[in-house]
Amino acid sequence: MLLQSATLFADNKAVKLVWQDGFSARFHALWLRDNALDNDTRNPTNGQRLLSVLDIPKETGFKNVSISETNDLCMTLVPGNKSIKYSSSWLRDHVYDNNRTAASGWLGPNTTTWAADLQGQVATAQWHDLLNSRSELGRWLNAVRTFGIAVLEGVPTEPGAVCEVVRTFGYVRETNYGRCFDVRSEVNPENLAYTNLGLQAHTDNPYRDPQPTLQLLTCLENSVAGGESLVVDGFRIAQLLHAEDPQGFTLLTSYCADFEFSGSAGVTLKTRQPMIDLAVDGQLRAVRFNNRSTAAFTQIPFAVMDDYYSAYRRFAGLVEDRQHQVSFKLSPGQLFIVDNTRILHARKAFSGSGRRWLQGCYADKDGLLSTLRVIEQDACNGAAR
Ligand code: FE2
Repeated sequence: MLLQSATLFADNKAVKLVWQDGFSARFHALWLRDNALDNDTRNPTNGQRLLSVLDIPKETGFKNVSISETNDLCMTLVPGNKSIKYSSSWLRDHVYDNNRTAASGWLGPNTTTWAADLQGQVATAQWHDLLNSRSELGRWLNAVRTFGIAVLEGVPTEPGAVCEVVRTFGYVRETNYGRCFDVRSEVNPENLAYTNLGLQAHTDNPYRDPQPTLQLLTCLENSVAGGESLVVDGFRIAQLLHAEDPQGFTLLTSYCADFEFSGSAGVTLKTRQPMIDLAVDGQLRAVRFNNRSTAAFTQIPFAVMDDYYSAYRRFAGLVEDRQHQVSFKLSPGQLFIVDNTRILHARKAFSGSGRRWLQGCYADKDGLLSTLRVIEQDACNGAAR
């Protein structure tokens, strides 16, 4: 989109740009100096900034500004007579002149919440295809980014295969449970996950800081009756609570719950984190919900404890409601991955006869999103060539 005009104002400390489609945005001279893309400001190899904010005089303003024949915004900034050029498209992509008044709990981009309507619709890929096709890997990772869950089939039924899946997009997050962990019935287990009991829907490891942001579970054996997996979109539950009981939503976002795990010898993990976690600008960032590792609440004032429990109970009730749940039974060679900041997973009880052996591991979402962005950028660049 072409630039139409550039007008200085605020004592030449800022510029208002108007594009030919009528869109307009204001930029500060300080901001434009800080984000210059020339080799004196950014390392040409790695793109990292070479400048400290203290290198930029606070009185920085425009000496002049113009739109070039190639539709670049050209300027000279003073003091220092620094000449800088920006493409129109870069500026349009980095506009910050907007009034963000989104409601508390707003969702970031590439996020679609779901309920039972996702039953039978969970994005599924084949392990062989993931290994051999970057676009198929991108499709699968995009499903994780968008819906917080995806399924993979054809995974080797060998110990450690789950870690190989992580290698396609990132790195395993090792914990006291090991690099990966077996989920099967044990005598005197360190964790109730290692029994045949049903497990209420939960996010994993809220007692860690930072908590693991991805969990993968693969099935090596499954000949038991029961033991189905069940998933719930915690972001949808948070949205529903917000709509139904804004005050309850605010309580779960405003006070820290206590979480603890000390089931293993030599391990006592504790955190204090909100059950519904908002960024400072209100974006819904994470939910934490795990009845097994919720400790005694000590961060919630007496005056609001009753109301806090009401909101907590309502959140739990919405999680338990079947119309928000998707269930499936893993077969050997199947794996599912969940965004552990968002998706709650549960397991139904299973019989003592037969064998059920899952293997799981944790990984971090930032690595997954990084790989996905690179795949998308490569696809974009390929299409442009
Ligand atoms: Fe779990």
